Amino acid sequence: PLATIGFVIASYLIGSISFAVIVSKLFGLSDPRTYGSKNPGATNVLRSGNKAAAMLTLIGDAFKGWLAVWLAVRFDLPTATIALVAIAVFLGHLWPIFFKFVGGKGVATAAGVLLGLNLWLGLGTLATWLVVAFCFRYSSLSALMASIFAPFYSALIFGTASPLFWSVCAMSALLIYRHQQNIRNLIAGKESRLGSKKTAS
Ligand code: G3P
Repeated sequence: PLATIGFVIASYLIGSISFAVIVSKLFGLSDPRTYGSKNPGATNVLRSGNKAAAMLTLIGDAFKGWLAVWLAVRFDLPTATIALVAIAVFLGHLWPIFFKFVGGKGVATAAGVLLGLNLWLGLGTLATWLVVAFCFRYSSLSALMASIFAPFYSALIFGTASPLFWSVCAMSALLIYRHQQNIRNLIAGKESRLGSKKTAS
């Protein structure tokens, strides 16, 4: 039990590392919490105009999610603990202890977690994101659609009795909850498209 608690706490701490803030600082860009959607995430860093910084944010935030799950799998932890680790690293990104609990919306981190849990789950969800992004060019809408589909994919892969299925459902619910402003903007036709620097506040 002590190892389980240690792993879950360490995963939350890994998740708390906000690559949007760190990468922006390294690149000498403004803090992403001060412009655009004010979200510390890859989509908003892209609004700075620096594609490399946005890409590094995406990779960093996805990598931390993947790493936490990979370590839990590597150490042969029980399935229920792996499910907790997945949620913990995701929660760290949403409410990071290192950044006054002001975190992101969890899209990149969830992608990393899903890839760590199961390659096909990760790739299927990424493909869903890409198809919607290609058709509509909204990062948020793509994430919302991907998060609706991810539980169905995980039900097929893990079965609904698995704790992994429930951890994916919880992540999807939290991800949608964090996109309330995006949903309002989408309905009002004010959401900024990918590649556009403008955004409704
Ligand atoms: O990565 C989060 C994305 O789905 C929306 O980000 O900055 O447009 O609110 P943003």
